[in-house]
Amino acid sequence: MQAVVLVGGKGTRLRPLTLTQPKPAMALVDRPFIRYMVDWLGHHGVGEVVMACGFRAEDLRAALGDEVPGGPSIRYIEEPEPLGTAGPVRLVAEQGLLGERFLVLNGDVLSDLDLTALQRAHAETGAVITLALYPVEDPSSYGLVRRDRTSDRVLGFLEKPEPGQIDTDEISAGAYVVERSALDLIPLGRAVSIEREVFPRLVGHGLYGRRLDGYWMDIGTPERYLQASWDILEGTVRTDFDHTGGPYVDDDAEVAATATIEPRAVLRAGSRVGAGAAIAESVLLEGCRVGAGARVRGSILGPRAEIGERATVGPGAVVGRGARIAPRVALSEGARVQPDEVIEGEVTAV
Ligand code: GTP
Repeated sequence: MQAVVLVGGKGTRLRPLTLTQPKPAMALVDRPFIRYMVDWLGHHGVGEVVMACGFRAEDLRAALGDEVPGGPSIRYIEEPEPLGTAGPVRLVAEQGLLGERFLVLNGDVLSDLDLTALQRAHAETGAVITLALYPVEDPSSYGLVRRDRTSDRVLGFLEKPEPGQIDTDEISAGAYVVERSALDLIPLGRAVSIEREVFPRLVGHGLYGRRLDGYWMDIGTPERYLQASWDILEGTVRTDFDHTGGPYVDDDAEVAATATIEPRAVLRAGSRVGAGAAIAESVLLEGCRVGAGARVRGSILGPRAEIGERATVGPGAVVGRGARIAPRVALSEGARVQPDEVIEGEVTAV
């Protein structure tokens, strides 16, 4: 089976981190995030992954390489301009890289949903496209998919539903099995949205949805990126990460004996945490420095960020690559610090 993974978005909600690194190449706990997706696909019979890239394709290739040992091979296709969520699939097909049936996935999902069951359902119904559907607790904040519960035929979509309209809890999980014939619905050479321009035209003409239980998380916001990290550490999502409990501290990170690292924390290679500092519910990407007595809570520190002695960061702060927070500064809740910015006074939320 082949899979096209859409990784060409700008990742605006994860700025400033995505100003210096594409979202799929960002580390999540112990590996580049996208590696979790490739591993998941490999477990469900995918032998070849095509990464549909736009922005910073070379960074992604540098992070992931051309194959995963024992897993799928990986190709990278670069778009001349952003082609949306359907256009890249047509572009990949035009290059002769796709067979009769393949998977298409959004490239910002951490999941263990059963893609084997999805492929089986697709084959049984003879669908043109089968959407993976995932039940959510609060359906009011999502676009919902209505389906006939007996046949699995998709009946329609509900965008931003009013409370009285909600009669399902199922959303599209951003993973589809697609027949080659669906490509005829994708015009060549312009941005096309699969959700707005392709799916609606297939309602009643071969669009199916299969509900899959398990774990699913779009990691595209700082809050969800952090939650996904804890879910890997705690084994809430099935991965091959050895979740024996506690924080993830890379072998190449240095932590002073008197520092406190709470169980929900990730310290990537080259991070240093000084005496008496405290790290809670936070991720320190490569090469961060946290000075003595500093406190970091509920935040993400980009690569090589420096937090001065006795400074406090968070909750909800995101510090860009190479930014510096001076000693004793208190960054307020939700602060965003740009790459290489130097903060010498208090910052308010944005
Ligand atoms: P935000 O800017 O924070 O909304 O994130 P995003 O850029 O990832 O956008 P969104 O979450 O809506 O995109 C869903 C998926 O489609 C992501 O995996 C994106 O990488 C991908 N995607 C969005 N637009 C394009 C595009 O023009 N080309 C390609 N190849 N992928 C895209």
